[in-house]
Amino acid sequence: MKLIIAAIKPFKLEEVREALTTIGVRGMMVTEIKGFGSQSGHTEIYRGAEYAVNFVPKVKLEIVVAAAMADQVVDTIAATAKTDKIGDGKIFVVDVQSAVRVRTGETNDNAL
Ligand SMILES: Nc1ncnc2c1ncn2[C@@H]1O[C@H](COP(=O)(O)OP(=O)(O)OP(=O)(O)O)[C@@H](O)[C@H]1O
Ligand SMILES: [Mg+2]
Repeated sequence: MKLIIAAIKPFKLEEVREALTTIGVRGMMVTEIKGFGSQSGHTEIYRGAEYAVNFVPKVKLEIVVAAAMADQVVDTIAATAKTDKIGDGKIFVVDVQSAVRVRTGETNDNAL
């Protein structure tokens, strides 16, 4: 199993959720976060100017899927969240050791 962590623009959440549902994603966690990337939250960086880091609101998605599905999930998020402007987000993929569905005790792929 793989955990896909994605930071996306908040207004893209519904579109991304819908696209992921369409390819068979059955669960996800969604958190409102603040973050910064390579612009440190600035849309412009002035040469020589001192600046503080600004945090920009983003939505974080955490999605655990069967390993075989991970690439498709990443591609779907990347294609759907893309606006071609800075701050479109970032996607990370992490190995997941185990999963349990609490109600049934099912484990791993069966728990997703
Ligand atoms: N290295 C990182 N580690 C953890 N989270 C990150 C990292 N880089 C970006 N993020 C998260 O992703 C969000 C969006 O990052 P962003 O899309 O601005 O990345 P970027 O590298 O600046 O790309 P771009 O130039 O397209 O803006 C950030 O607000 C932050 O929440
Ligand atoms: Mg950025």
